[in-house]
Amino acid sequence: MTQESIALRATGITKSYGPVKALRGVELELRSGEVTALMGENGAGKSTLLKILNGDFRPDEGELSIDGMPVDFGDPSDARAAGLRVIAQEPEIIAAVSVAENIFVGNLGSVGYNRTALLRRTRDELERWGFHRTIRAEALGSELSPAQRQIVEIMRAVVSRPRIICFDEPTSSLGDEEVTLLFALIRQLQAEGIAVGYVSHRMAEIFQLADRITVLRDGAFVGTKLVADTDHDELVRMMVGRDLSQFFHRDPAPLGEIVLELRGVGNQFVDGVDLTVRAGEVVGIAGLVGAGRSELMKTIAGDYPTTSGEILVSGQARRIRQPSDSIRAGIGFAPEERKAEALLLQRSVRDNAALVVLRSLSRWIFVNNRAERALAQEYIDRLRIRTPSAEQLVGNLSGGNQQKVVLARWLATKPKILLLDEPTRGIDVGAKSEIYAIIDELAHQGVAVIVVSSELPEVLGVSDRIYVMAAGRISGELPRSEASEERILALAMDEDVAA
Ligand SMILES: Nc1ncnc2c1ncn2[C@@H]1O[C@H](COP(=O)(O)OP(=O)(O)OP(=O)(O)O)[C@@H](O)[C@H]1O
Ligand SMILES: [Mg+2]
Repeated sequence: MTQESIALRATGITKSYGPVKALRGVELELRSGEVTALMGENGAGKSTLLKILNGDFRPDEGELSIDGMPVDFGDPSDARAAGLRVIAQEPEIIAAVSVAENIFVGNLGSVGYNRTALLRRTRDELERWGFHRTIRAEALGSELSPAQRQIVEIMRAVVSRPRIICFDEPTSSLGDEEVTLLFALIRQLQAEGIAVGYVSHRMAEIFQLADRITVLRDGAFVGTKLVADTDHDELVRMMVGRDLSQFFHRDPAPLGEIVLELRGVGNQFVDGVDLTVRAGEVVGIAGLVGAGRSELMKTIAGDYPTTSGEILVSGQARRIRQPSDSIRAGIGFAPEERKAEALLLQRSVRDNAALVVLRSLSRWIFVNNRAERALAQEYIDRLRIRTPSAEQLVGNLSGGNQQKVVLARWLATKPKILLLDEPTRGIDVGAKSEIYAIIDELAHQGVAVIVVSSELPEVLGVSDRIYVMAAGRISGELPRSEASEERILALAMDEDVAA
């Protein structure tokens, strides 16, 4: 590789947040026409590095250069002017205006304010990058799904034809179909000679996409490897500093009575759902995005009332019309959108971890119970939540560590029935295997667990039995011994059910 192909170089980057050293002498090179993955455990400093590249703040020490010329970004507009775009993990979408206006916000000069021309240009761009079937140029910001919001954020960057684009966990809110589109887009960016930086915790994605991988650990630079010269185990060692088994396999517990039973449950999202979970059983729910998996969890948790059928807990029909009803029935629910729904960002890690479910409409109240806090602390240690102290505000933790705080609380609560929606999304490889071990432990203690996951190896690894959903219905049920990725996918795409 010649020097000229290095579009961006960061050397000796150091950054502290008060006493927290988020980055210590980090090196990164992004080459034109290549994808460089940035990996590391939750809190390793990946997002902090991208924020520096975006000009959100300057590093305390270190230099950035573009095409060999030193640059100094005082704010994001400097980074943009230099041809560098960082795709934010949480897109800022203006609700009241169209997709077209959202995409060209800040770029209107190049199109003028002619609405017809703007829409036409937007349609051309959406088509050029393969998103025209996914998003309409006229749709309002407020109508967009999380995945569509992410795509608008990406389009906003590509229409300015940058030379360097960095993505921070772009697939965490995308479904399989949108992931396929995103990968196609990244390959197109690559073919046009753009340098791509890519943060993800998903190993399979990295091996599919990346040419090179740079690993950070505890804010320090560990090394950069060509994908062709490394493998899963070596990357895990670089990230975690120790060996981990490739994938967790559950040790099935003896099954008890049926604790949760759904008979023909239906509402505006799901239809005729029959399902059982026994004490000590881990039931997986697989399906494509939009199949109704999260909606089913929210129905059981009382967020969406049922309009037909029954929910039975330990053989007794329960009226579950609101969250407090499900909490009273012994159902714990860790939703997919953990940050928005479950965390108090302005409270400490300790307060958040000590939040315990009681009979309250607001779902949470504080309990000053030492034993409970000690228990929460145990989970914090096990999940390796990276925080300077238990008094740190949760809002200052890295994204993945916030996820861990919510899960720690649920895993420590030991309800009779535990619903986990995408429990390892955004969580690093070390904590993932620890979460599987805790699920296994809870099952051995007699908890009935449901795990919703889009990662097939995860569903296959943790579940005793798997239900597959398509179009709001259960399209099939597979015992662990008969389940495979192929069989799950066949049921997930079940045309009869979808019709
Ligand atoms: N605003 C802030 N105030 C204080 N500490 C912060 C702040 N933002 C980040 N940190 C700390 O800096 C460190 C690096 O965080 P960063 O968000 O860069 O991690 P990350 O590698 O992106 O992790 P994740 O995989 O969880 O997204 C963490 O220890 C985090 O708690
Ligand atoms: Mg991050």
